[in-house]
Amino acid sequence: MEHTEYKPYLKDITQISNEQKLEQIMRESAPFMRLMRYYKCAMMEIETKLNVLNEEYSLEHDRNPISSIKTRLKRLPSIVEKLERLNLPMSLETVERELCDIAGVRVICPFLDDVYTLAEAILKQDDVTLIRKKDYIKNPKGNGYRSLHLIVGIPIFLAKEKRMMKVEIQLRTIAMDCWASLEHQMRYKKDFYFSPEMEKELFECAEMSAVLDTRMDALRKEAFPEENQ
Ligand code: GTP
Ligand code: MG
Repeated sequence: MEHTEYKPYLKDITQISNEQKLEQIMRESAPFMRLMRYYKCAMMEIETKLNVLNEEYSLEHDRNPISSIKTRLKRLPSIVEKLERLNLPMSLETVERELCDIAGVRVICPFLDDVYTLAEAILKQDDVTLIRKKDYIKNPKGNGYRSLHLIVGIPIFLAKEKRMMKVEIQLRTIAMDCWASLEHQMRYKKDFYFSPEMEKELFECAEMSAVLDTRMDALRKEAFPEENQ
């Protein structure tokens, strides 16, 4: 396995020729780009597994437990910012060992039960290992945020090696996603500042959306009784 120090900023940029600069960029960024490709492959594996589960469920029950899947790779500035925040050295080895959210898969489900059905089904697969689970549905965050977070390990098979990679899977309902997306937009715009009144209002909105989820799930059980057998 290759572990090369990644230096995000070029040193002595004025001292070297363009050719040398290009060579330095290539030398330093190639291992990083390769690692990012590995994360992308792991993310694709997880996305495919979820799509397969969605197909199977829709064959059996005539409805989809997944509304949509979004994937994202953490970008370099966010990686550098997180390493700095955690006071960790800037190396590829640290990125792989310490950061679990380079590859992110967000799964949006219609109903609350779908979240847990999918999580259980994916964790049952023998090439998926659970590294960490945070159930912010059973234990919502202080601001009201709800989602089920899984950090999983998954192998990717390359021409000459098998490599274990980590992927963060966030599972949530449409209602949870609505709240989280709007909260995220406002937090971003307001530069992380919410007045206590706003915090309270946001929390209450999260509670309302939790009630909505529970009531819709009860309706689902009535509408599709065969799913509960
Ligand atoms: P990060 O450093 O942000 O990755 O946090 P963490 O390592 O403590 O992980 P955690 O499981 O708590 O949160 C990971 C991700 O969940 C975040 O990057 C967001 O995508 C999402 N998330 C967590 N908390 C909130 C929240 O309060 N609001 C919204 N909108 N998203 C959240
Ligand atoms: Mg994160």
